[in-house]
Amino acid sequence: MQSHPLIVANWKMNTTLADAIVAFEAIKIGLEPIDDVKVVICPPFLWLTILAEKNQNHPIRHLSVGAQNVSQFEKGAYTGEVSASMLKNIVEYAIVGHSERVTHFFEKPEDTNQKIKLLLKNKITPIVCVGEKFKNKNSLQLVLQTVVKIFKGISQKQIASSVIAYEPVWAISSNPSAQPATGDYVEKVAHTLALNFNTKIIYGGSVNAKNIREFTICEHISGALVGNASLSAKEFLQIIKKA
Ligand code: 13P
Repeated sequence: MQSHPLIVANWKMNTTLADAIVAFEAIKIGLEPIDDVKVVICPPFLWLTILAEKNQNHPIRHLSVGAQNVSQFEKGAYTGEVSASMLKNIVEYAIVGHSERVTHFFEKPEDTNQKIKLLLKNKITPIVCVGEKFKNKNSLQLVLQTVVKIFKGISQKQIASSVIAYEPVWAISSNPSAQPATGDYVEKVAHTLALNFNTKIIYGGSVNAKNIREFTICEHISGALVGNASLSAKEFLQIIKKA
């Protein structure tokens, strides 16, 4: 890992507004003396503007907020959706293609592709999730083919300004039989991706303060996407310090 690590918190559909503010303020204070890292907090949509405002007075530049999703449509009659242009100027990053969106909302690589194009058009950095199911473990080609599909029609230059989050589905803590990946395995996949795409690659799946170093020492891993362990500001700050 060469540049400053990118550590992203995906709070998923958790936190009350009060919890979110307390955690964000604690992370902000804890981050003040650590500036060799970039931290992105992705809370539920409703808290985005509130947390973004909390970083406006005395801003910490290496802290920002990100969205957990975005619509694949530009605007119009799409009930319940949030467009990339609505997120512009509020978020710096947005997660797309998360395996929970694929499993529960049946999203396809083509949808993720549309979302990336709209994010890039609105100058938001896409954090593009990809990862295989347990039955496909070791199938590096499958992961690669999925990324190729997701980036179809997107220039190498634009791909370079995106982030790939490699998240094997079997390693995500919400999976009842979750098993954390090993650093060696993650590096093997990240190396394959790095040979084909000139982008930052981060790892996600049961990351915590105890195992973060196993991933951040990998040559082709530049940070982490953290779910469950990011809900505790204390644990998340430990992860950041160790990264
Ligand atoms: P966990 O860190 O809880 O395994 O979640 C990973 C994830 O899905 C982040 O997007």
